Amino acid sequence: MAHAESSTFVEGLSKREAYAQVLEQAKALFDGQRNWVCNLSNTASLLYHALHSLPSPSNATNWCGFYVLDPKNPGQLILGPFQGHVACQVIAFGKGVCGTAAQTKVTQVVEDVEKFPGHIACDGASKSEIVVPIIQDGKTVSIIDIDCAQLSGFDTDDQTALEELAKVLAESCDF
Ligand code: SME
Repeated sequence: MAHAESSTFVEGLSKREAYAQVLEQAKALFDGQRNWVCNLSNTASLLYHALHSLPSPSNATNWCGFYVLDPKNPGQLILGPFQGHVACQVIAFGKGVCGTAAQTKVTQVVEDVEKFPGHIACDGASKSEIVVPIIQDGKTVSIIDIDCAQLSGFDTDDQTALEELAKVLAESCDF
């Protein structure tokens, strides 16, 4: 059973502690539930609230969510569950930060989006970004995308925790 309190994060946690709570709550929510829409929706909520409970720059997260492989066009991603403003509906593999992570299967940590060639500006407030691929059977099935309204919003703690989360999502969801 899911409760709203699952996404309540007390102030004062370290980033590692907040991500540990995201992981723990996510695993509890995925128990007996493999639907990707359901699980990615709850994960977007957990991430958004966890990051907003932390000090700057994490609390400047302005978009947090997922793109998934477009079932009608395997050469592109299509918008999935998220928190934040309305976003671009489709992104071709190889394009922007999301398409680059999807194609290379390598996490992209972007300190300044204006310096990333081909960055796609969905929300003009975004200044930095992290995108982590979710790989199932060697194939990119989705990506985690988080935008921050401050420069250098993400570090290796974000990368390590989100890569762990991507692994759990790959194991826990039917895409
Ligand atoms: N900035 C991304 C596009 C998606 S939005 O940030 C939600 C990119 O360059 O791929």
